[in-house]
Amino acid sequence: MSDNRMLQSLDRRLALELAQITERSAVAAARLRGRGDEQAADIAASGICYRELMRTSISGIVVVGEGAEGEVEHLFVGEEVGSGGDTVDVAVDALEGTTLCAKNLEGSISLVAVAERGSLLKVPQVYMEKLAIGPGYPEGIVSLSCPPEKNVQALSEARGVPPSEITVLILDRPRHAELVEAVRKTGAAVKLISDGDVAGVIQTANPHESGIDIYLGLGGAAEGVLAAAALRCIGGQMEGRLVIDNEDKRQQARALGITDFNRTYTLADMVQADCIVAATGVTDGALLGGVRFGRDVIKTDTMVLRASTGTVRRIATEHRDFRKFHF
Ligand code: FBP
Repeated sequence: MSDNRMLQSLDRRLALELAQITERSAVAAARLRGRGDEQAADIAASGICYRELMRTSISGIVVVGEGAEGEVEHLFVGEEVGSGGDTVDVAVDALEGTTLCAKNLEGSISLVAVAERGSLLKVPQVYMEKLAIGPGYPEGIVSLSCPPEKNVQALSEARGVPPSEITVLILDRPRHAELVEAVRKTGAAVKLISDGDVAGVIQTANPHESGIDIYLGLGGAAEGVLAAAALRCIGGQMEGRLVIDNEDKRQQARALGITDFNRTYTLADMVQADCIVAATGVTDGALLGGVRFGRDVIKTDTMVLRASTGTVRRIATEHRDFRKFHF
């Protein structure tokens, strides 16, 4: 099947199916919100997510998953998923923001992306230095090769506002102390989040609603690829640079065919072809509402993003058949 025809069929069949997968994993995680047990919520979400992916008519390989083979039971990198169909790469984080879920804090989501086989960047379990902005700016206006002050300045000039009207989203970590200081010196505002940088990056795509102009800082590399898939659908620019600073990480990287350890990856490098992304809120957040449990109904809030059309579809679902949530 030609790439184009395959994509059309991917779009038609999969958009809703992916939404159903993340809805179900989000519900599984949400049942364990606020229980202080990150692992239990993660395992519950991954189990359901795996089961649903296995029922999906794709021939998928997990490229971004829950861990390495032997480390996790389900959704390890390299695992084959699906009941047969188009050959695709799968990127999944059944519960992104495990700590947020365990503490019932804002911003945990369940996330799945599907892309043509071979089009998603395979990354080792390392950090990635990330930079992301939304659509509408000239290409390359900001870059990881520039200091944060320069990026803030460039963005404020492009927006035609003073730096004081720019907001930079950063993970609240000691490793970001210098970055935060440098950004604040420009006069820009820093918004700190305790976890969940996939949702953080996605928020840059809609700065008028989110109030976030740019995402900066180090987070998980796997989350970087998932965020890139989402941004490829909505539009925007992103760069990522893997942090490969010891021999173990170098070996992991080499095993994946990475030879240039200092390479800066663009959005197009991280996601080389069209893709579909679905995300459902677990806890309430700026991006998505959390799961609501009623006596006879469970409500979920989902977004499905399609790169081929740029469509962002919001799906508010009321579930009344609870059998589908049992594992
Ligand atoms: P988990 O869902 O795996 O806990 O990841 C949460 C997260 O905040 C990611 O969004 C982010 O990329 C990463 O952790 C940052 O890692 P660290 O907590 O080590 O700074």
